[in-house]
Parts: sequence; C-alpha cells; structure tokens
Amino acid sequence: MNSERHYTSDVVVDTRQAFLTIARALDFVGIDDVHHAHRVAYIAYECGQLLHWPDIKLEKTYFAALLHDSGVTSSKEHLRLLGAMRPDDAQAHCDRGYAALKANRLLSGFAEIVRYHHTPWSELKDLEIDEETRDITALIHLSDRVDFLRARYAHETHPEAVTLYEGLIAENILSKKGTLFEPNFTDAMAQLVNIDGFWFAMDYDRIEAIGLEFQSYKPFNHTLDIHEVKDLALFLANIVDAKSPFTYHHSQKVASIAKMLALDCGLDETNSDMVYVAGLLHDVGKLRTPDEILYKDGPLEGVELSIMKRHSVDTMITLDHFFPDSKIGQWAANHHEKIRRLRLSLSIKGGTA
Ligand SMILES: [Fe+2]
Ligand SMILES: [Fe+2]
Ligand SMILES: [Fe+2]
Repeated sequence: MNSERHYTSDVVVDTRQAFLTIARALDFVGIDDVHHAHRVAYIAYECGQLLHWPDIKLEKTYFAALLHDSGVTSSKEHLRLLGAMRPDDAQAHCDRGYAALKANRLLSGFAEIVRYHHTPWSELKDLEIDEETRDITALIHLSDRVDFLRARYAHETHPEAVTLYEGLIAENILSKKGTLFEPNFTDAMAQLVNIDGFWFAMDYDRIEAIGLEFQSYKPFNHTLDIHEVKDLALFLANIVDAKSPFTYHHSQKVASIAKMLALDCGLDETNSDMVYVAGLLHDVGKLRTPDEILYKDGPLEGVELSIMKRHSVDTMITLDHFFPDSKIGQWAANHHEKIRRLRLSLSIKGGTA
C-alpha cells in the first residue's frame, strides 16, 4: 500500500489528457490522411446528439471512435481501408485492435466495439453483445464510412468542397440502410451530412477540445497511477513495434534495459519506472514515419533522412503532452532545449546563423 502512495504522489497524469495524447499519436498512422479517427469521433458524437443519446453514451462513443483503428499498423493498411466502402480484409485490424485493448485495464471497455466496427448491420444486429455496445459499434461503423465518402468526394480539392457532395454522401449511405448500416442511425446521419456547418466545424483542434470537457465517462475521471501509466505506454509501444517488423518488441527491450541502468545508477523504483515508461515511448514519433522510409533497405538520403529525423521531436512532443506535470515532461522539455541549443551552436559554427 505504501508503494502505491509513493507512486501516485510522484507521477501525476490526467487520464483524459493521456488518452487524447495516445489518440493523437495513433492518428499519425494515416500520414497523408491524418486525423481520420478524430473526424470519426466528431461525426459519431454529432450524430449521437441528433439521436438524443445520453452524455455518458456520447462520451464513450467519442473515446471508442478515437481508438477504433488502433489495430492499423501501417500507412498502407490505413489507405487500403479508406479505398473502398467495404475494404478487403477489414477484420484483421479489428481483431488486432480488440486483442490489444482487451489486454489493457483502462481501455478494455472499448475492445468489443473495435472488434466489430466493420461488421455489417445485417450481422451485427444478431450478435450476442449488449445493446449499448451494439449501438456505439453501429454508429462508429457508419461514421467511419462517412469519412471514407468525404475522402472520396473531396479528395485533392479544397476541404470545404465536400459540401458540394452532401446529397451524394446522403444518397450513398441511405442505399445501404438496413444492410450495411443501422436504419435509424442512417436516417439521422443523412440529415446531418446535409448541413454545411457540420462539415465546416470538423476542425481537429475543436474536436480534441470537445473530449477535454467530458465529465460523464467515469473511468477517465481520475489520475492515473504508475501501473496504469505503464499499461498505456505498453499499449502504444506495441503499436509502434508492430509498425516495424524488423524490431520485434524493440521498445519493450529498450525500456527494460533503461530501467536496469537507472536502478544500477542508484535511481529509486519510482524514477526507474518513469525511465521505463520513457523507454517504452521513445520511438512513438515513428508512427508518423511512412512505411517506405522505415522499411527502406539501404541508407536514407535527402528528404527521407529529414522525415526520419523528425520522429525524435514528434516523440518529445508526445511525451510532453502525456506528462505535462511530471519529471518525464520536464526531461522532454529539457531535451528539447538541448536540441535547440545544439542546433543553434551548429548553425553558428557553420556560419549560417
Ligand atoms: Fe477500421
Ligand atoms: Fe477507420
Ligand atoms: Fe528506437
């Protein structure tokens, strides 16, 4: 019990803040189509409001939608899922997401939703799952496909041009009412997509701000203890490691070695655990690195090298968001300052300042 108190007093991590940081990192997997999960969360949340769902159900829907594609490991797979209304082999990422979420105490409540988020309504309606899970799953499926249609019609044009295609998007989803999509939700969504303001308000920062205001979803209304922090970091580390098949469990190995060294150097258990968490997350910025650069068989050059190099700064930003008031956040900030000073001294030496 004493060690619990010792841990929580040293590691102060807000659950919603940590969760939204994870969601932001996950959304980088899209590379050329970032923020897909955020848009799906927004679309589902807005449609749920139209359906008069209670706050607690709306909030769970929003959080589940942010995680719905957490089983997607590569930018290639992400693009494939946004390439057709019923993509091939969609179940593979649902199953991977389900397994990862099920193993996480804080996130296991979203596992079933993620497992079935591409299941057609004609099958979903007969599955033995509770009513709330079925509703949220069906709405996330529909919202996900609305974002697919947005990408299809507004591709390579100004984002606002999607309003020119509202009728086509509504027509498309209505043609699958009762087969692919739940009938009542489809009717509500068809109304929603015909409102210009619905599309104009689909702004990334605004979507994230919606989640920070939530109060009803109880599992997120507390401060994380170190065990939950380690669980969340492990969840994210496994996604990073799955993206690079050449480095199996790389983040876990780095974390374990770093913790051993920290203990060897005389750090106490709490601080060594924080070093362990930092090790788990040290490559999280790689979620934003395109597959072809990560997998390149040969030296990186020019732009490729620049893209690869930015992952350390993306990692730092993620850590800073995850641990704004902890020592890890401070380490990240200090590290940033060191990089800035190093860059400055290098540019002065090189005569470019
Ligand atoms: Fe998906
Ligand atoms: Fe998706
Ligand atoms: Fe690494």
